[in-house]
Amino acid sequence: MTQKYIPHLLALDRERDWARAAQACGISDNALAQAIRSAEAEFGHALVRAGRPFQGFTLEGEQVLAWARQFAQAVDALKHCFADTRKRAGLAPLLARRSVSPRRLAMPGPDSGDMDLMIEAALCAPDHGALHPWRVLEFPAHQREALASLFEQEKLRRDPLAPADDIRRAREHATRAPALIAFIISPRPRSRVPVREQWLAAGAALGNFLNAAHHLGFGAIVLSGERCFDPALHSALGLREGEHLAGFISLGTITSQPSPRATVAPSSMRTAWQAEQAAAVTAQALLQPDGNHDSHGSDL
Ligand SMILES: Cc1cc2nc3c(=O)[nH]c(=O)nc-3n(C[C@H](O)[C@H](O)[C@H](O)COP(=O)(O)O)c2cc1C
Repeated sequence: MTQKYIPHLLALDRERDWARAAQACGISDNALAQAIRSAEAEFGHALVRAGRPFQGFTLEGEQVLAWARQFAQAVDALKHCFADTRKRAGLAPLLARRSVSPRRLAMPGPDSGDMDLMIEAALCAPDHGALHPWRVLEFPAHQREALASLFEQEKLRRDPLAPADDIRRAREHATRAPALIAFIISPRPRSRVPVREQWLAAGAALGNFLNAAHHLGFGAIVLSGERCFDPALHSALGLREGEHLAGFISLGTITSQPSPRATVAPSSMRTAWQAEQAAAVTAQALLQPDGNHDSHGSDL
């Protein structure tokens, strides 16, 4: 196989020295010379100019070298591609998660053990100060009609003339999915952790919860809507002062898959910070004292 000489040729090209090339290949000088002779025998041409120290490649040697470089690059590209495939396979469940509409959900829903696992996953989300500034409120099957009445009342508060179809849809949101929970943001106002970071931690927990549902094979979706801002519903659900109703999570077994996600190129979400540009922007701002950067200027 001619390919077996590629590392020797490339090492010789890189090092331009027999001894160093042999060392790079982990073989003796003699073994390297022998390998090159074997390659020359296979190609039927001298590849390296005669003489010591190393005299360079012949014309044919340069041609073989060009092929060797291409071959090595192609092998590298393939290895990267295979490594990426392995990495993607490891992330497959995360990359495949989609929200699933309650219309596509049927029995069975998650049982109590599944629910604990999803909450455990939510508890593993990054959380500054381990405050767990969130909680979930479950609606057992026998309470769902009562919840439907609350949703109906909320709809009528907002729109006293709401058509029957809208009322039916509002009620259905409470009853349709095999399992329903409310996700409540519960910031700790007296904590040294900024409230905005607590919101982020709660969002990360919500994401982990949804990913865990997906890992367990359930479909899930979080839906909020106007009702999540209704104080009367808040108090009927027992929300405490300062708490927020993020949304209702419907869970169940997927009966039909949602459409695939529209692809967004990861590169479109990345930019690299450039120190030079930042310095230029800062300098520009300093040159414009009338800008909004001087917080005292307008009052003086
Ligand atoms: C807190 C929260 C509330 C949401 N509320 C609604 C909603 O009221 N209506 C809606 O259509 N989507 C809502 N969504 C978005 C859906 O849950 C879902 O993420 C969206 O349809 C995109 O689907 P995907 O998760 O498969 O990308 C909400 C998402 C979050 C995180």
